[in-house]
Amino acid sequence: MTEEKEMRNGSKESEQKRETLTTRQGHPVTDNQNIRTIGNRGPATLENYHFIEKISHFDREEVPERVVHARGAGAFGYFETYGKVGDEPVEKYTRAKVFSGAGKQTPLMVRFSTVAGSKDSPETARDPRGFAVKMYTEDGNWDLVGNNLKIFFIRDAMKFPDMIHAFKADPASNIPSPQRMFDFVSRSPEATHMITFLFSPWGIPATYRHMQGSGVNTYKWVNEKGEAVLVKYHWEPKQGIRNLTQEEADAIQAKNVGHATQDLYESIERGEYPEWELFVQIMSDDEHPELDFDPLDDTKLWPPEQFPFLPVGKMVLNRNPIDYHAEIEQAAFGTGVLVDGLDFSDDKMLQGRTFSYSDTQRYRVGANYLKLPVNAPKVPVRTNQHRGQMDVHRPDEAGGNPHVNYEPSMIGGLQEAEKTEHIKHEPQYNAKATSAPIDRENNYGQAGETYRSFEDWEREELIKNLSAALSICDPRIQEAMIYHFTQADEDYGRRVKEGIQRKMKEMEEMKKQEEQQSSPGANAAADKAE
Ligand code: HEM
Repeated sequence: MTEEKEMRNGSKESEQKRETLTTRQGHPVTDNQNIRTIGNRGPATLENYHFIEKISHFDREEVPERVVHARGAGAFGYFETYGKVGDEPVEKYTRAKVFSGAGKQTPLMVRFSTVAGSKDSPETARDPRGFAVKMYTEDGNWDLVGNNLKIFFIRDAMKFPDMIHAFKADPASNIPSPQRMFDFVSRSPEATHMITFLFSPWGIPATYRHMQGSGVNTYKWVNEKGEAVLVKYHWEPKQGIRNLTQEEADAIQAKNVGHATQDLYESIERGEYPEWELFVQIMSDDEHPELDFDPLDDTKLWPPEQFPFLPVGKMVLNRNPIDYHAEIEQAAFGTGVLVDGLDFSDDKMLQGRTFSYSDTQRYRVGANYLKLPVNAPKVPVRTNQHRGQMDVHRPDEAGGNPHVNYEPSMIGGLQEAEKTEHIKHEPQYNAKATSAPIDRENNYGQAGETYRSFEDWEREELIKNLSAALSICDPRIQEAMIYHFTQADEDYGRRVKEGIQRKMKEMEEMKKQEEQQSSPGANAAADKAE
């Protein structure tokens, strides 16, 4: 080895354990430092295969970032079922095998995220956190794509693109602005409850390890007899819950924009494996006219006194990604990814989401995204959906007939599974097809309850954060928001109103001071004093 190479590659000792660099065609690379040129100062040549391959691959190294939840971190581990739901056998409610047999472990991966910011945005943002879990069950994959907070801003999927547009940066200036966000929210009173959580300390979890998770939308469990119940899922961190005040978040952000990724990664490297317990809330599968909200409305909490949190299992994260891009960036979760015994409800957000996820992943990762190891189930996949870019399918390896890529067939190929003895859950409908809001909107009741349930310091923070954000909004938006908060709780509305007035006065005084300091007269006076 030349002296120069030794300097680059370290000592001879370390060289012994190292493999030779090759091109992607398997050719050994003898010079990875100098492009081929005419003379050592001359123009480059086009047949410079290694260089052109290297640069053109680099030019394609990134895939489009997620349209939402672009900033994230992930890890791997397992789910262990308790085999029970509370004190009852879980089979009473669901035939999903992932929950049966106390102590059984199912491998999984998790991706945590923020929502509105782009791929490298600060993890101290006041923003919901994504909490997406992919379980590689014996019946194929189950994705539970949730958030840290238990409710959401809106209840109809039709509004989601507008909401995200309003929450992201201004399309002209590319500057995020609370005015655009509150403009949308002030015309969407159902968001009052979520805004109450988001502007309290619950809006900035301290780390991913110290936050809760929730499926948010209402799902169904189905048992052997085809009987269904409505369920909500909740993850509780065994590490405890920790949130940040705005001031604490600002201090972290000044030094580190990726503190939550770092915390997760480093804790797993240290062998401190984070754990969450999974709880469900259960309701019979009907409209529940006795409640003042609709059980399919994701802006509402199910009161735990009526619908207790029942433990069903726990999750442990014990492995970091080996390659972030392959295992986390390209991970693809979706609400349509359910296994037998788990089902959708008619929750309108859930129904809209279910189309969106796989649709965006076909664009973001590619038509064959499900063939990537992180997304592929850990059970055999035998399907006729092949080809497209980057397909790696070999029908002989999959045990199929390479000539028959359709079904049904009399000459071979794949065939339908045997019908199981399970009775299907087949809900019946008798209603007009319509575009209409739900009946029990009750946009303010729970927002008020949540406001009153906060500790004093949390309410203080909430008012401070809302006042700061609203003080720079159009007066019409301020007025509308004060109206919503007042409907939720009179004290809430009054304090936000006073907070905005106080903040605006402070800003006016600061502006005056600045003007005075920068006026020529002030400068002359300062010079004289010197
Ligand atoms: C990610 C759509 C509501 C949680 C995404 C993505 C889309 C999307 C397109 C990017 C997926 C990807 O590129 O792989 C929607 C639509 C919604 C909706 C249309 C409403 C109609 C929600 C709600 C929650 C949620 C209510 C919380 C329960 C998440 C999470 C991710 C995500 C956690 C990130 C998944 C990951 O880590 O890859 N959503 N979303 N979304 N969404 Fe939603």
